Amino acid sequence: MKIFIDSAQIEEIKALEDLGVISGITTNPTLASVTGKKFKDLVSEIFTTLSKDRIINLEVIATDYDTILIQGRALAALDERVVVKIPCIPEGLKACKTLSEEGIRVNITLVFSPMQALLSANAGAYFVSPFVGRLDDIAMDGMETVSEIVKIYRTYDYKTQVLFASVRSVEHIRLAALAGVDIVTSPYKLIMEMYKHPLTDTGLTQFLEDWNNAKEEFIV
Ligand code: E4P
Repeated sequence: MKIFIDSAQIEEIKALEDLGVISGITTNPTLASVTGKKFKDLVSEIFTTLSKDRIINLEVIATDYDTILIQGRALAALDERVVVKIPCIPEGLKACKTLSEEGIRVNITLVFSPMQALLSANAGAYFVSPFVGRLDDIAMDGMETVSEIVKIYRTYDYKTQVLFASVRSVEHIRLAALAGVDIVTSPYKLIMEMYKHPLTDTGLTQFLEDWNNAKEEFIV
């Protein structure tokens, strides 16, 4: 299962790029706007921060077919790593079909039901992004929604990849992996938490203490 970082903060993206654990990033208009940077500048910083084979999800801000097409084509033309995020609305799915036929990869976002995911796959989406945390936030079962999407896609052999979004905890990421999703996009903080285990810390302290007490010399 691949991991993307859900962020528009360059320091966070760079830190995880350097650690080598991410395959790409997702952004959205909210994440981009809180940076306070001009979108153009932000996007070009993202391009230079990430290496060649990464995926960069950038979202349109239009809701009508024609403008979604204009914005989607413009975003895709910026860099070959771009996947265009489009909201799951009728005009969006129509644009998804057109752009996909042109060879532009589309991520259908703001997906909250298996039926929306089914339509997205039929419209040729490259990724579908169920927002699990936002479903959980309103006392619905986000995990069940994702599991159903995975099951439907596998049953009918859809090529659309499931991108588990709106992650709220490391437990979400564990459950996503068990459910067989293709990718999880997570905030920086949770990816860093994935590294942690108290037994790793105590084990390492013990190893180094024992080594130092033995007064051995290392190879280099
Ligand atoms: C994904 O593409 C979205 O940007 C993101 O996961 C939304 O998460 P939120 O519900 O924490 O805003």
